[in-house]
Amino acid sequence: MENTPESTSLETSDIGTDERRGSGVDSPVSQNLLSLRGISKNFGPVQALQDCALEVPAGQVTALIGDNGAGKSTFIKCISGIYAPSAGQMFWRGKEVHVHSPRDAADLGIATVYQDLALCDNLDIVENMYLGREETHAGLLDEIKMEVATKQTLADLSVTTVQSVRQLVGSLSGGQRQAVAVARAVMRESHLVILDEPTAALGVSQTKLVLELIRTLASKGIAVLVISHNLTDVFSVADRIAVMYLGTIVSHGPIANYDTTSAVELITTGDSRSVPTSRLSSAL
Ligand SMILES: Nc1ncnc2c1ncn2[C@@H]1O[C@H](COP(=O)(O)OP(=O)(O)OP(=O)(O)O)[C@@H](O)[C@H]1O
Ligand SMILES: [Mg+2]
Repeated sequence: MENTPESTSLETSDIGTDERRGSGVDSPVSQNLLSLRGISKNFGPVQALQDCALEVPAGQVTALIGDNGAGKSTFIKCISGIYAPSAGQMFWRGKEVHVHSPRDAADLGIATVYQDLALCDNLDIVENMYLGREETHAGLLDEIKMEVATKQTLADLSVTTVQSVRQLVGSLSGGQRQAVAVARAVMRESHLVILDEPTAALGVSQTKLVLELIRTLASKGIAVLVISHNLTDVFSVADRIAVMYLGTIVSHGPIANYDTTSAVELITTGDSRSVPTSRLSSAL
């Protein structure tokens, strides 16, 4: 079932130490920015996610890796309010939250950049940044304010390759388009930025631009959760890894616990025995 914008808005409730409830995981809920416990999702008879647990700390890059169909996109759609999980709990700074819609996720400060980016090629960068939330002054579009803020946001993210914010998005390179999509996502105060395959279609220099952007976000204290199939990118940018296999997070922990060989082994077999410290309970 998909969430709809009409569904009940975000609810929060305090949980004390004694009330902590793990779903299939015996570890306590941490004070990390985002903690997920026992997240499951069925599409009719298809069990896309089963009892997934994950910690996402602020100021760090967490890479979500796994083979095609492992459940990565479904998992981030549960976090960003597009899908309602069939079971499980989500904790934001240690408090349980119920995200029923993308609006609820945005209200928490979760910004998601999907792979298609949803940019309008026939509009310029400023128009894309403010699409649907234009600034007005005395009933007119406040072009100067929007242009200044766009330049500032790009500068804050160290995006220096764009020549003019009045350039049509259709004329940008793939990396620049990704940068505009990220800038639009973070323009509202964001605490968690989720990126689905941000470098999949990019060449070497554009990939470098996006990886630098990801590190810039983390250096500002933002938690980044990035899906990637490219292990070279993952090992160059991530602080933590979570590996999905057939709808379950089979291993999860600091990047230092992994190397390319163990990551490939986990992706292809789901067998975490070669990574002794990677289980969630020991990674907290
Ligand atoms: N809307 C849906 N209805 C039915 N099944 C779905 C739906 N969305 C995803 N699935 C199934 O759930 C499983 C996980 O899909 P998902 O798209 O999350 O995988 P993924 O890890 O993102 O794969 P990829 O790397 O190819 O993008 C797959 O078996 C897929 O067929
Ligand atoms: Mg996917």
